[in-house]
Amino acid sequence: MKKKIILDVDTGSDDAIAVMLAGLSEELDLIGVSTVNGNRNIDITTTNTLRLVDYLDLDIPVYRGCHLPMVVSLTPNRRKNVPYIGPDNKEEDVHGDYLPLPETTRKEEKEHAVFWLARTLTETTEKITLVFVGPLTNLAMALRIAPSIVENIEEIVIMGGGYAINNVTAGAEFNFWIDPEAAKIVADCGAPMRIVPLDATHDAYISWEDSEEMLAENSKASKFCGLLMQQRITGYNLFQPLPIHNTAPIHDALAVAALIDPEVLQDLHEVNMDVCVSHGIADGWSLFDFEKRNRARKPNCTVALRSDRERFVRLLKENLRKSK
Ligand code: RIB
Ligand code: CA
Repeated sequence: MKKKIILDVDTGSDDAIAVMLAGLSEELDLIGVSTVNGNRNIDITTTNTLRLVDYLDLDIPVYRGCHLPMVVSLTPNRRKNVPYIGPDNKEEDVHGDYLPLPETTRKEEKEHAVFWLARTLTETTEKITLVFVGPLTNLAMALRIAPSIVENIEEIVIMGGGYAINNVTAGAEFNFWIDPEAAKIVADCGAPMRIVPLDATHDAYISWEDSEEMLAENSKASKFCGLLMQQRITGYNLFQPLPIHNTAPIHDALAVAALIDPEVLQDLHEVNMDVCVSHGIADGWSLFDFEKRNRARKPNCTVALRSDRERFVRLLKENLRKSK
């Protein structure tokens, strides 16, 4: 029985690989993709997602979501660069603006993503799994509109946060940093959660050799994935070099892979995750309370600190090979 899922993205290069994996997997029933402001503004993330589903001829509706975080931009100087326009040094840019794909006439659905999420999760007769790989604004807004949707959520798999690794400030991971309040609302919502933080995604790095193997495959999805991999490796070599040269994480694809094969995630811990909304140097910090210091907060997630890189790369290759 296919697992019914909703994928929320801020397409972006690794989001694109996540969309391809989710759309091509025979284990997953991707009932819709929602877009959010994150790696780039909502126009770009939505256009990229539409180009991608059209390029792969995926019959999947795309719902345009929130163009700004919930409140972060209301405080002067809290975020100078949201909507995010990419790094100052363009050579470090692992996403770019528009994906290098043909333009499309495909349009997003008329219904806003937040209303679609709230309505779908209210009306559904079976639980739905949510995979969120961008800022959590759309889900947090839906939870504010219809808190009872928690009862119809099978699980929320989130690419976000970091335990020993961060990437946008010394204390925060990008998705949580763009919208800390949204991340905290979701962390506190009570639905089962699996967190795929940077610690796990960096462990599941891909190499230049992986990208060349992808480019040599006979499938559109594999070839495009290889291209995105090389863009990411080039950027990571400058932006956040991994321990092994010429490698890069594909954060979002690992979160989707975990739905297809849970064993790709390793070193799992049931802990409480809280998110800092303090505006200070730790704004957006994902606090994993391994020592159970805060007795008032019970474990609310399973967090993976490692991953099985070989298993992940094999799964990615097997699934992307299925496209034409
Ligand atoms: O920190 C990594 C996350 O931020 C990924 O989801 C990437 O696409 C960006 O959204
Ligand atoms: Ca993303």
